[in-house]
Amino acid sequence: MERSSVKPGEIPSRYQEFAVGSGGDYQRSGSSAPAWDPRYWSKKVWIGIAVVIVIAIIIGVAVGVTQGKKSSYPDYSQLSYTLKDTFQGETFFDNFNYFTGFDPAGGFVHYVDAGRAQQLNLTFASQDAAVLKVDTSVGPGSNPDASTGRFSVRLESKNTYNNGLFIFDVRHTPFGCGTWPALWLTDPSNWPKNGEIDVMEATNKASDGNQMTLHTSSDCSMSVKRKQTDKALQTNCDATKNSNAGCGVQGADNTFGSAYNNNGGGIMAMEWRDAGIRVWQFARNSIPSDITGQKPDPSTWGEAAADFPSTDCDVASHFKNNSIILNIDLCGDLVYGVWDSSGCSSNCTDIVANNPQSFTNAYWEVGKFQVYQAL
Ligand SMILES: *[C@@H]1O[C@H](CO)[C@@H](O)[C@H](O)[C@H]1NC(C)=O
Ligand SMILES: *[C@@H]1O[C@H](CO)[C@@H](O)[C@H](O)[C@H]1NC(C)=O
Ligand SMILES: *[C@@H]1O[C@H](CO)[C@@H](O)[C@H](O)[C@H]1NC(C)=O
Repeated sequence: MERSSVKPGEIPSRYQEFAVGSGGDYQRSGSSAPAWDPRYWSKKVWIGIAVVIVIAIIIGVAVGVTQGKKSSYPDYSQLSYTLKDTFQGETFFDNFNYFTGFDPAGGFVHYVDAGRAQQLNLTFASQDAAVLKVDTSVGPGSNPDASTGRFSVRLESKNTYNNGLFIFDVRHTPFGCGTWPALWLTDPSNWPKNGEIDVMEATNKASDGNQMTLHTSSDCSMSVKRKQTDKALQTNCDATKNSNAGCGVQGADNTFGSAYNNNGGGIMAMEWRDAGIRVWQFARNSIPSDITGQKPDPSTWGEAAADFPSTDCDVASHFKNNSIILNIDLCGDLVYGVWDSSGCSSNCTDIVANNPQSFTNAYWEVGKFQVYQAL
């Protein structure tokens, strides 16, 4: 486009004779200079207009960048996956360390070591399945009792990962007042710097379904275009914001707890790559044949339940060196936060200490866990 030779702030020369007021049409007709006529605008007015134009351009660029992020979407094209790890059968638990320290999530729980877990039968593996449960043998009159927390298990995989396609066969999810079970990935010694990916998580009666969530260090947002079937919650993944709610996605009611278990559970598939992180949840009766056939291809699965694209979150730098974690926490930060709306009576520590029967359904039963990686 052709540009005027007149700079902002200058009065165009062809108007100058009118501006100085020595006899233009309006002067001649005896009226004063009309404000709407540019020919009579002062230098100040032209500077003002120039400033407004510059501000408009700056806003325009900012809006353009934001809109660009809103409409852009990463390239999730097909990767060629190869099976790397299988955790399965009687040796399932050999792939994990048993965490025994003080619970970093503030739970009312005693995580036991492998020996104690076996003795109390809190971890049990057969050829077909692995079971991880909360102790139900200890009541108020027992010695020891559960007055300082109940026995449970937290497993952390010995192998750590920087990406991959994770296929988890889950047959039974734990539920019951006082429980906070999760199937997730993180690097516990570098949290939240190395990120956290929650694949399955619920609390108490788990009647609201499965929650899938990322927790990160700063500068990871999901206020961008996403392709997912489930409902977005918060969109800032920064663990220091929103009381560490993370950026979550809420599944339907039957994606965790008794409804899920009554359908025989299903497959959780989580793909973690530089383009983004996606989670699919397949019910037992609708597992894609490429998963069963051990040639999984997410590009054929359709829209994910949860989509965390890398558009405004550099997945490659926010997620590193994660272990797979399977645990059942009792009480803890998240449970205390939702207790009043959980439909559970009394308070959480009272239930954990005195009601072993609240934990009869508090067990994970899983088939195999498989990790594929792209060549
Ligand atoms: C241990 O737990 C498993 C799984 O719940 C169960 O099948 C088995 O009978 C239990 N073993 C004992 C000795 O109670
Ligand atoms: C990776 O994670 C493991 C387990 O949390 C930790 O011991 C190790 O120091 C981490 N390595 C790096 C390079 O961060
Ligand atoms: C929880 O409930 C028990 C039993 O009713 C009570 O003794 C205890 O003080 C309560 N704790 C809290 C923190 O409210």
